[in-house]
Amino acid sequence: MTARPRHAAILFALLLPVSFAWAQRAAPTEEVRGHEIYQLYCAHCHGLGGKGDGPLAYGLAVPPRDFRDRPHMERRSDGELAEHIRQGCERSHSNTMMPNWASVLTDEDIASVVAYIRCFQRR
Ligand code: HEC
Repeated sequence: MTARPRHAAILFALLLPVSFAWAQRAAPTEEVRGHEIYQLYCAHCHGLGGKGDGPLAYGLAVPPRDFRDRPHMERRSDGELAEHIRQGCERSHSNTMMPNWASVLTDEDIASVVAYIRCFQRR
């Protein structure tokens, strides 16, 4: 009659990786990736909280966009935001300090970071 605990242990060992896989699938991986990219490349100017108050923002003639500005952000489609990130200030020939990210980030990276910056307007 020692078989039962052994069966339970085997069942537990089998289900553990399945539950881990399920939990990972449930996580919003795109936003997680976008968060990493944002912290690495964007937060210096746009700020950790998306407010446009990063440490590099203070010397800039044109302030970085505040991503919590909901009325403004709601007017932009995901595609427009992606295009602005891809081309930076070259898009508008505006000579602001918004860099052109096309040579650094893939389209997939840019889609992830767009998904992430959308989180700021939900707060
Ligand atoms: C050197 C500072 C700097 C860095 C780094 C930077 N930005 Fe910007 N960003 C700006 C400035 C300044 C503006 C506002 C002027 C403009 O649009 O050119 C801006 C504007 C934007 C806009 C335009 C919003 C709109 O109204 O359409 C988006 C989107 C954006 N940044 C995303 C990013 C992302 C994503 C990163 C990181 C991959 C990033 N920025 C890194 C300075 C920066």
